[in-house]
Amino acid sequence: MNETNITTAAPILHIENMTKLYSNGRGVRDINLDIYPGDIVGLLGPNGSGKTTIMKVVVGLCHAQSGVCDVFGHPIEREYEQAAAQMSCLIESPALYENLSAEKNLMLAARVRGLGKQDALNALHMVHLDGYERDKVGRFSLGMKQRLGLAIAMLGDPKFIVLDEPINGLDIEGIVETREMIVRAAREKGCAFLIASHLAAEIERTCNKVAVVHEGELFSFTTMDEALRRSPTLEDYFLEEVRKKRGGAL
Ligand SMILES: Nc1ncnc2c1ncn2[C@@H]1O[C@H](COP(=O)(O)OP(=O)(O)OP(=O)(O)O)[C@@H](O)[C@H]1O
Ligand SMILES: [Mg+2]
Repeated sequence: MNETNITTAAPILHIENMTKLYSNGRGVRDINLDIYPGDIVGLLGPNGSGKTTIMKVVVGLCHAQSGVCDVFGHPIEREYEQAAAQMSCLIESPALYENLSAEKNLMLAARVRGLGKQDALNALHMVHLDGYERDKVGRFSLGMKQRLGLAIAMLGDPKFIVLDEPINGLDIEGIVETREMIVRAAREKGCAFLIASHLAAEIERTCNKVAVVHEGELFSFTTMDEALRRSPTLEDYFLEEVRKKRGGAL
């Protein structure tokens, strides 16, 4: 994604001064983030830093106390249907019907999006689960369930996809294929992604922008090129950003 698109296109996701705190006082504070068509934005942060919380607000699974969260120009809370029409997500573990086959799980998701059986089978093929159409999902391995969750998220070419730890449980081929699938959808279809991971190397390989999340705050948000201009690896960049915010100490 070049800088021209950043300034001319309307953002798919616009988050401004968003705060979501749970009843125990934990959560995220004052988040600002814009995502444009074709962007692959990586949320990088340690366990408990607030990545999933940001994503839950974005997809309407929980409500922010204050600030703005617009998807395709629609406030996610007040205009959920319009905001969510071209968005899909895979948050934490995939929500699957364990007693149903892979094909039936996909068909249910396809029907909700007005798609047919062929779309469901294409999605199954994309994640290399052909041959497992009729197997009950309850008997799938962790990685197979993750592949199926990814197939459901990609079904029908949504324009904005939110993926929480998408390579969780995947084997090496699955990791590479998932990365390629994401990059292809962004390049060829202008699909935008918000991806959470605590694996800096994976974010570095997949994303064109990175947001460092730490203790409920967004420490920095920049292009991958800029992050790698400042530091030799994204891991170094992350550690440096955390050090800066803490006034020198890690
Ligand atoms: N339902 C909840 N009720 C209360 N606190 C919560 C809830 N969900 C998350 N939290 C707290 O909010 C903070 C952020 O959690 P979140 O799940 O967003 O982190 P994360 O960055 O996704 O972590 P991980 O890498 O482990 O998935 C943590 O301190 C967590 O304990
Ligand atoms: Mg999480």
